[in-house]
Amino acid sequence: MNDNNVKIPVLAAPLQGVTDNVWRMAQHDVFGGVDAYYAPFMRVEHGEIRRKDLRDVSPERNAGLTLIPQILACQPDHALMMVEALEQMGYRRIDINLGCPFPPIALHRKGSGMMAHPDLVEELFKALAAVGDVDYSVKMRLGWDKNDQWRDVLPLMDLIHPCHIAVHPRTGKQQYKGELDTEQFEALLAASAWPVVYNGGLRSVEEIKEVKHRYPSIAAVMVGSGLVANPGMFVPDARPEDYRRFHDLLVDGYTELLNGGEAQLVRHLQDIWQTFLPGTGRKLFKAIRKSRTLEQYETAAAAALADVENALTALPDEPAEEQPAL
Ligand SMILES: Cc1cc2nc3c(=O)[nH]c(=O)nc-3n(C[C@H](O)[C@H](O)[C@H](O)COP(=O)(O)O)c2cc1C
Repeated sequence: MNDNNVKIPVLAAPLQGVTDNVWRMAQHDVFGGVDAYYAPFMRVEHGEIRRKDLRDVSPERNAGLTLIPQILACQPDHALMMVEALEQMGYRRIDINLGCPFPPIALHRKGSGMMAHPDLVEELFKALAAVGDVDYSVKMRLGWDKNDQWRDVLPLMDLIHPCHIAVHPRTGKQQYKGELDTEQFEALLAASAWPVVYNGGLRSVEEIKEVKHRYPSIAAVMVGSGLVANPGMFVPDARPEDYRRFHDLLVDGYTELLNGGEAQLVRHLQDIWQTFLPGTGRKLFKAIRKSRTLEQYETAAAAALADVENALTALPDEPAEEQPAL
């Protein structure tokens, strides 16, 4: 376990379009405190695994960190295609997405949409269980449109013997709105024969300690938007220059990754500020949003980073809506 002062394993949640290899490597190199990083889901489109998904999990782009790739599929043949590709890259741990609430995905009975179709989950798990050399974990919601659909899915875990089940205690239909359903989470925790990971709304080390205190039997916590907002969450004495270095690594990484001209790079960096350092003053944020060239962006970002202590004081209540991909 990492020496992150919370005395429970901490897993970095996958956020499509945000926690890609550039973000993960920068967080790991500058701040750390995370035991394992979960990659945003990969999927099959037009009969092939998206190339950018494969690139994101390539071992050379994730050197030195513990990375668990995630697959999203309801068709067993698509899932097996991804598992085989990941095995060839050397992965022996793979996460299965039963949680994505994004309607175009969930309405196609993928992600959290599968929670309403235990027959499809069973078919998928049976196919995955036949792959000898891979350990699985599952990331899921309480259900798609009912908060107790997990009751039909949980017994199916016996098919794949998951290392853990990470639960975001909402339905898929709720997306990221509404109260976290602690009652159903507790019921699931009591009913599960498999280790359970808590995921949802954790914004600080104190909140992680509270959750561990409230649910002593959880195996780990998974932290998403709180860590994106403050990547130095586990470094109590993180300095402004650490945030600057983190930001510079993002700029360098996306310059190389996007390789698609200045405008695209600036737009992506602006998007990052939708969730990074949420307390950034309005004027500073506006200057970032208004920049049209990399030079303008860098001037605006430098001013915002100079104010990092203020920017860290406000953390978001809810994550932004999930995007299907960058
Ligand atoms: C923009 C965005 C993208 C996400 N992408 C994924 C994903 O690829 N796979 C997944 O399992 N969950 C995804 N999630 C859900 C998060 O992993 C996490 O479960 C959710 O944000 C709740 O945790 P948090 O409150 O700590 O952020 C995404 C969430 C957001 C906001």
